Amino acid sequence: MAKILIIDDDPAICASLALLLKQAGHESCKALTPPAALKILSDEALDLVIMDMNYSRETSGSEGLKLLDDIRSITQTIPVILITAWGTIDLAVKGMRAGASDFINKPWDNKQLLRSLQTALNLGIQSKLSSGSPSRTELDEVYDFGEIVGEDPQLLKLLETVGRVSATDASALILGESGTGKELIAEAIHANSNRRDGPFIKVNLGGISSSLFESEMFGHKRGAFTDAKYDRIGRFEKAHKGTIFLDEIGDLNRSSQIKLMRVLQDCSFEVLGSSQTKRVDFRVIAATNRDLDALVSTGEFREDLFYRINLITVHVPALKDRKGDIPRLAQYYIEKLKSIYNRPGLQLDSAAIPWLQNLNWTGNVRELKNLVERTVLVSSNDHLKVKDFASQLQHSPQEHRDQGQLGTIEEMEISMIHKAMLLHDKNISKVAESLGLSRAALYRRLEKYGLGE
Ligand SMILES: Nc1ncnc2c1ncn2[C@@H]1O[C@H](COP(=O)(O)OP(=O)(O)OP(=O)(O)O)[C@@H](O)[C@H]1O
Ligand SMILES: [Mg+2]
Repeated sequence: MAKILIIDDDPAICASLALLLKQAGHESCKALTPPAALKILSDEALDLVIMDMNYSRETSGSEGLKLLDDIRSITQTIPVILITAWGTIDLAVKGMRAGASDFINKPWDNKQLLRSLQTALNLGIQSKLSSGSPSRTELDEVYDFGEIVGEDPQLLKLLETVGRVSATDASALILGESGTGKELIAEAIHANSNRRDGPFIKVNLGGISSSLFESEMFGHKRGAFTDAKYDRIGRFEKAHKGTIFLDEIGDLNRSSQIKLMRVLQDCSFEVLGSSQTKRVDFRVIAATNRDLDALVSTGEFREDLFYRINLITVHVPALKDRKGDIPRLAQYYIEKLKSIYNRPGLQLDSAAIPWLQNLNWTGNVRELKNLVERTVLVSSNDHLKVKDFASQLQHSPQEHRDQGQLGTIEEMEISMIHKAMLLHDKNISKVAESLGLSRAALYRRLEKYGLGE
């Protein structure tokens, strides 16, 4: 049994909530005004707050946000559930950002309210998460982050935000360099939302030409155009009651941007070749590795579409900004490969770890994953050393080097030594001479990089 404070200026609402809570076995007290609520909160030990967002004729919700703030200055840990008017998603988002644990729409569904309340109580979300920075273990107790590996502070901050905003239906924009894990983040938002049992439909907008956009996204009827031999269900319809993930949205051409804007505005569209309007219920998550702000300022990306998709924006950190996660990621992929290739003896040489951390990962996690996979495939030895990785590094796509960026000095050194060793068939004197090093200096480097054998 929990003790719950109900805050609403409408006595009828307080009474009906109190009855519902009583039937569910909880005790409650009520406050009709923010000052009364704050007084109760400072005097009594309570387990949860359910609160309305408006207390006068004003309907912006700003009073509710202020009250939430004041509650937070009295207690950091109590879970707060907001009651918001239907359709005020941005208010709900602001509330979640300010530390609410959930929000329900008015008029509410009793079952949903009790479920949300139970979740907040059981998991003690607030007590765990709002007390500073939660650890990865604490986050995992509350949320499901699937295959996302990492516990660097930057990543934890991102995961906490992802967890928090998942419950809202607000559109989310995921930004970050190529290979940082934007798709995994999109999946995590869906998996932690109330739509988790619904479909997750991914569309790569970069790959859709403007002529195919409508039939792909809205579907078509047989005969709608010359090649339309069968009816086709569009992606938006497939995403009904779920989430649609619009990947590479920065690559969408202007004419398709207008069409997309229309659907996002009123959640309805017409199937090609049919005059019927379809209404669907979906949440939008978009991602891009391009600089959307810049595309908006040059006019390549519509500003109204930009605002429509970025109610929540999250930035996925580049791998170079969370180097602490490199050993975990490398180990994670090695564990996976152990079972895939049935090589239980696979292990990382301890010298390889700092070496991997010092590489210039412009391809981010994708590049790290590819390097580990290639190295495991090619090396017959289970004990993976720097030289095994170094030799595969040269065969990597080298995207970053092609983009005119240099590798680290260590990378260049390793690559030069490796080439010289191949060229001179590991004859130390010749290798040293060709590199302009003394034999002792070469030996030291061979040892440092594990290139010796
Ligand atoms: N934190 C992580 N833990 C485990 N694997 C990860 C992580 N981040 C990324 N990956 C893996 O790295 C690869 C690239 O990730 P993903 O496809 O999500 O990148 P992206 O940000 O969408 O890149 P792009 O902009 O090129 O589409 C995938 O194989 C993904 O599983
Ligand atoms: Mg991607």
